[in-house]
Amino acid sequence: MPTCPPDAAERAMVNQQEKPTYVRRMFDAIAPTYDFMNTVMTAGAHHLWRRTTARQIVADDPLVVLDLACGTGDLSFAVMQEAMAPCTILGADFSRPMLNLAQDKHGNLPEHRFPIVFLQANVLSLPLPDASIDVITNAFLLRNLVDLNVLFSECLRVLRPGGKFITLEITHPPVPVFRSAFALYFNNVVPVLGNLLVRHQEAYTYLPTSLQSFPNAPNLAEAMRASGFADVSYRYLGLGTVALHSANKVT
Ligand SMILES: C[S@@+](CC[C@H](N)C(=O)[O-])C[C@H]1O[C@@H](n2cnc3c(N)ncnc32)[C@H](O)[C@@H]1O
Repeated sequence: MPTCPPDAAERAMVNQQEKPTYVRRMFDAIAPTYDFMNTVMTAGAHHLWRRTTARQIVADDPLVVLDLACGTGDLSFAVMQEAMAPCTILGADFSRPMLNLAQDKHGNLPEHRFPIVFLQANVLSLPLPDASIDVITNAFLLRNLVDLNVLFSECLRVLRPGGKFITLEITHPPVPVFRSAFALYFNNVVPVLGNLLVRHQEAYTYLPTSLQSFPNAPNLAEAMRASGFADVSYRYLGLGTVALHSANKVT
């Protein structure tokens, strides 16, 4: 089994203080090949996970949906495709190259059913008024943050009472045999694919590293409850490699 050279592994063990800058620079650098690598690493399954997430987002016909760390826009586009009633979608990300791709892809879509507005912003300090959003969602953001509580309290500020928080993230599979197989694949194969296919071994070494200290799905649910969300629930997708958490803001 191929392994990652120690220098790439060391560089990917990023210091917490430097993490936001490290993460932004990394996504700036990998933006052009980000979608391709997602499809390779998940054998295309990420499209299915986003569609499942989008269906949950639009279930109560929200008027305004905020896609945090929207990246190249795929979850925002899935929400637009699944929405049954008119809704406005906001996509926020701090990486300009990722947002540029989202805007280009948006321009090339055959159909624009509802408006999507992309904005450059730090998700920990959103340029949005209190209680202005019906559903806040995010895909593959949480592992990149130093303190989840900062994000949760910012989301609770921006969500209207009764609003929903829906998050899709890589997780630790609950079944031991899948957990071992996934760890083998994620820690050893993914960095090599990143190097061979897109010459970004460090970014694809950071990816498994970012999961190591990330809470498992029950603990993430507990952290959401502790920060003030109600009705927290979750389900596994992709043989337990991905978890979809959902919660409400009560007041
Ligand atoms: C793994 S990508 C996910 C992109 C997209 N949500 C998707 O599903 O493909 C993580 C994204 O989070 C963004 N990001 C990380 N930390 C952020 C922050 N503090 N504020 C804004 N964007 C952030 C990165 O720029 C990157 O586009």
